[in-house]
Amino acid sequence: MKLWKHTKFNGIKSINGNTLNGKKIRLREKKLADVRNDYQWQIDPELSELDAAPTLDVSFSAYLLDYSSNVGRKDRRRFPLAIETLDGKHIGNCTCYDINIGKAEAQVGIMIGDKDFWGKGYGADAMSTLVDHIYKTSDFKRLYLKTLDWNKRAQKCFSKCGFTISGTLRRDGYSFLLMELKREEWEKGRGGQ
Ligand SMILES: CC(C)(COP(=O)(O)OP(=O)(O)OC[C@H]1O[C@@H](n2cnc3c(N)ncnc32)[C@H](O)[C@@H]1OP(=O)(O)O)[C@@H](O)C(=O)NCCC(=O)NCCS
Repeated sequence: MKLWKHTKFNGIKSINGNTLNGKKIRLREKKLADVRNDYQWQIDPELSELDAAPTLDVSFSAYLLDYSSNVGRKDRRRFPLAIETLDGKHIGNCTCYDINIGKAEAQVGIMIGDKDFWGKGYGADAMSTLVDHIYKTSDFKRLYLKTLDWNKRAQKCFSKCGFTISGTLRRDGYSFLLMELKREEWEKGRGGQ
């Protein structure tokens, strides 16, 4: 049996060097060696457009400096993890953020940066693995996310994980669809396990 440290720094049990295992992926803590992929993904205009985010415009050395001082740092409002294939290839990241302990809710986000892995079920497996860990180890009642209204692949992925549409949002000229997965719906989806 694996020994878990029952630390709940941000309301979620930390994984302390272990992995969260899905069917096609595993989730692990972020590490410095992720920096090259993360940089490549953040300077990619196609990825930033899908994420409604500005494309990163800094040199790799400046990015590395900032990255190395932040990687592994504990943050009460964020729980970031890397997504790996079962043979250890880093293909993306997922994060639980905007953690609000008082409201027992948080936002989740995901990016499969390696485009060879789009549309093959890796995203849904990673998101479900993240959601399962959060609901199994925290008292959170609601997880939510937002996605651009035209990002149909993302919406299909999140629907497969049990998220349903809860509203719309216009911000900074973008139109988003809001989706949520409440704890009771997650429990129903697990067939009462
Ligand atoms: C969004 C993302 C996480 C989804 O992960 P993924 O591994 O590609 O998704 P999955 O394969 O699990 O599910 C996608 C589903 O949408 C379907 N799909 C793919 N392209 C589609 C499209 N243009 N329209 C409708 N459905 C589409 C896939 O066939 C799949 O459904 P299926 O399992 O029934 O075949 C990933 O594609 C990604 O990170 N993309 C780049 C960044 C991004 O869009 N981020 C989202 C920000 S909210």
